[in-house]
Amino acid sequence: MNEGNCTSIGGVNLKPCLSERVPGQKWYKPIICINRDEGGERRVYKTYRYEQGPLGQYFRLLTSHEHRMLQRVQGLAFTPQGVERDARSANTLSYDYVDGAPIKKRFQNGAIPERFFFRLYQAVSELHERGVAHLDVGNSGNILISPEGNPVLIDFGSAMPLNRLPVITRAWARKKDLLGVLKLWHRFDGASMPDHLQDYYQRHYRKNIYTPKRFFKAFKRYWVSDGEEMNGIAAMTGVFLGLLFLVTVV
Ligand SMILES: Nc1ncnc2c1ncn2[C@@H]1O[C@H](COP(=O)(O)OP(=O)(O)OP(=O)(O)O)[C@@H](O)[C@H]1O
Ligand SMILES: [Mg+2]
Repeated sequence: MNEGNCTSIGGVNLKPCLSERVPGQKWYKPIICINRDEGGERRVYKTYRYEQGPLGQYFRLLTSHEHRMLQRVQGLAFTPQGVERDARSANTLSYDYVDGAPIKKRFQNGAIPERFFFRLYQAVSELHERGVAHLDVGNSGNILISPEGNPVLIDFGSAMPLNRLPVITRAWARKKDLLGVLKLWHRFDGASMPDHLQDYYQRHYRKNIYTPKRFFKAFKRYWVSDGEEMNGIAAMTGVFLGLLFLVTVV
């Protein structure tokens, strides 16, 4: 995010933003704007650009969904608090700013705090006890490190309530989150990762190919790998087509 000056976001008028996302980002990405409320506390405003037509409807659904998920995780020490939805703009969500830096930035500026990934692992388990699977933990932009060295999970746009998932996919959702933790652990602090978790990660982690771009990349890899990735590709083709069907038809 850059220093910016967004005085309105969606239909909401704001004081000049302390920072906002770089212009020119992808059309489907939300604009993130940090502002101060009347009490001087920093708040994050997240809004999608489209309010009208089918796209507007789709982004409103996304906003409602993230709002509901964030409400479910209120009171946890490692999630954004004070979530609100402004009545003037249906596709804008706001919540308290969390003081912290994304993992990647912290890694570039020095070491990851000691035992950070053990705490992240615990946080994700606690999230599951609260009945929510995050489903995008492996995206390093979604994990912040607080000044005290504690993990904070943001971006609940892909989160799902475990009790709403079909029973057979609940274990899959938990496993996906925990593999997300292991992926980041392996990448940013592999030396502190216990051997049994290294082993588990190597055996179970598969790159996500649910988006068209990733799917076609994986498909290309298959052609140059003499069919070694065949089983994975076959299984993922089914999942991908299923998701495509859900997104376009349902
Ligand atoms: N509560 C918060 N406190 C501090 N910074 C935040 C907060 N929420 C979001 N941010 C900042 O905004 C960035 C993007 O937020 P978020 O992940 O919600 O949006 P996104 O568009 O889904 O991003 P991405 O696609 O990179 O995951 C974060 O990496 C972080 O730097
Ligand atoms: Mg994100």
